[in-house]
Amino acid sequence: MVKTNIKRLGILTGGGDAPGLNAVIRAVSRASRHFGVKLYGFRDGYSGLIKKDYIRLESPHISGLLPKGGTILGSNNRDNPFNFPVEQDNKTVYMDMSGKAVENLSELGIDCLIVIGGDGTLAIARELTQKGARIISVPKTIDNDLPGTDQTFGFDTAVNTATDALDKLHTTAESHHRVMVLELMGRYAGWIALYSGVAGGADVILIPEIPWTKENVAKKILSRKKEGKAFSIIVVAEGVKTPEGNAVIRQTIKGSGDPIRLGGIGDYVANVVEETTGFESRTTVLGHLQRGGSPSPFDRILATCYGEAAAQLALSGEYGMMVSLKNGTITAVRFEEIPRGCRNVPKNHQLITAAKNIGISFGD
Ligand code: F6P
Repeated sequence: MVKTNIKRLGILTGGGDAPGLNAVIRAVSRASRHFGVKLYGFRDGYSGLIKKDYIRLESPHISGLLPKGGTILGSNNRDNPFNFPVEQDNKTVYMDMSGKAVENLSELGIDCLIVIGGDGTLAIARELTQKGARIISVPKTIDNDLPGTDQTFGFDTAVNTATDALDKLHTTAESHHRVMVLELMGRYAGWIALYSGVAGGADVILIPEIPWTKENVAKKILSRKKEGKAFSIIVVAEGVKTPEGNAVIRQTIKGSGDPIRLGGIGDYVANVVEETTGFESRTTVLGHLQRGGSPSPFDRILATCYGEAAAQLALSGEYGMMVSLKNGTITAVRFEEIPRGCRNVPKNHQLITAAKNIGISFGD
């Protein structure tokens, strides 16, 4: 048994959910039990930490969790301890409750908190660490856009879901001689669109990293027509801008750290295709289906390894770190060494080159 002074660990899941969250919780819980440490789960992200809303996670909570989507702890992508909604005189006011969050950890005797989340959750973890909290983070997001790791868990499952959708769209596109546009999530990065577009045999893949023109997309559809292929499949990432450089926004969420919700570029592209090629076009927005369901075997393994590694770091007293996948190996990176911002697809990514060389158009 590893020698540790740690007696109690806390865990929470923050931000949008992703397949594999429960697998991480399970791994941390099993490792904690293995090393004789108690584990407390805070409900609904940082909100549970501020409201002291938690449960002691024990064996019955964990049973059967590995294949389960979502998170048994609940999550939210709004409640930030540094700008936390509080009800006062029948009004919601936003207050800095970060001190309370740190205080609660010490009052509950939590030696280290493991937070599972994306950029928003990580940014809060960094700030709480500066206030004295002992935190380890686990990189999650279907978008795969988190710096400091080669891959987040949740991404592989989202790619599987999107690929399955593309397989289905192919048959209906071919039957009706249509152009089918699939709009995918990913925020300002094109990882899901690129990977599923290649896996699902798309003819055109539009990603935020590569500016596109209407003419180039039309050229690809019409050249397929000339070859006798009277249908085409276009994958478009939600973060793709119009050729004029405008982001297409579905809604703005008050109180969210990142209030912009992208959406609508799929319809824009379908209209462009109808106008420029005369092909009847339809849009499918895959939406939150990409976040749901059972994690793929790859994500179950990645989530399990991340959870175990996070527990090991906590038990050895190494805080202020994010577990990470680098060149196929599980490792950890200090919070201050993680670059800020979005991890975009590099323009010279091998998969883009390969896709172009097999005739997939990126509209550029
Ligand atoms: O970050 C994950 C993600 O699913 C993005 O791909 C998407 O833009 C966003 O969250 C949607 O957020 P919400 O669940 O608040 O609509």
